Amino acid sequence: MKKSIEKHAARFDEAASEYDDDSSEEYRACANLVIEHAAPDADEVVLDLGTGTGAIALALAPDAERVVGRDISEGMMEEAASKAADQGIDNVEFGHGTFREPEYDGTVSVVTSNFAMHHLSDEEKREAISVIGGLGPQRFVLGDVMFFGEPNPDEPFYSPEVDDPATVGFLADALTDAGFSLTAVERVHEQVGVLVAERGHSRDETDAQ
Ligand SMILES: C[S@@+](CC[C@H](N)C(=O)[O-])C[C@H]1O[C@@H](n2cnc3c(N)ncnc32)[C@H](O)[C@@H]1O
Repeated sequence: MKKSIEKHAARFDEAASEYDDDSSEEYRACANLVIEHAAPDADEVVLDLGTGTGAIALALAPDAERVVGRDISEGMMEEAASKAADQGIDNVEFGHGTFREPEYDGTVSVVTSNFAMHHLSDEEKREAISVIGGLGPQRFVLGDVMFFGEPNPDEPFYSPEVDDPATVGFLADALTDAGFSLTAVERVHEQVGVLVAERGHSRDETDAQ
């Protein structure tokens, strides 16, 4: 992590009230794909890590039994909670938690994360993915800044001073090591993508169906 958790939290606290006004086409495409692939059933609990102002959590709540959002920025989560109240959504809860310590010990079927994990170093991402695997979800949908090819530091999707995106290959290996099978890779841009990882869904099983 190029900045401490406290510094990232302070940065997002400051940006929280304007965060929703400033989004790129690629961010929106990525968020939409995360929502589409998460597709929780009515009896499923979703855990959304790096939930921010609730873009993913609030979109999934009407379909899920419950959505739990975790983040390090109180300011971002205040925005999320206010939007939930405005929209009459009462099956979401937001609270402090990090990727590596989500502070959630209930059951979870689907874990989501959008545009947040790239703040961690690669080793921290590997640890976080292992923690997520340990929570026992059937599906983990990760949308983020990630490199499909050689990264161009002049591209707008990450700031080298604060962000630390991984390659798709690194993330795929970490997901596999955590017990997931990669079932879909969506390339939104050469630096933005969505990975869908599932459990108990090997290629052999898929081929046999
Ligand atoms: C770019 S915002 C994305 C928010 C939301 N997921 C979305 O799609 O709009 C990144 C969020 O990740 C949170 N974040 C950064 N580092 C984190 C960490 N280590 N654990 C949990 N959340 C983190 C930030 O506070 C911020 O709210």
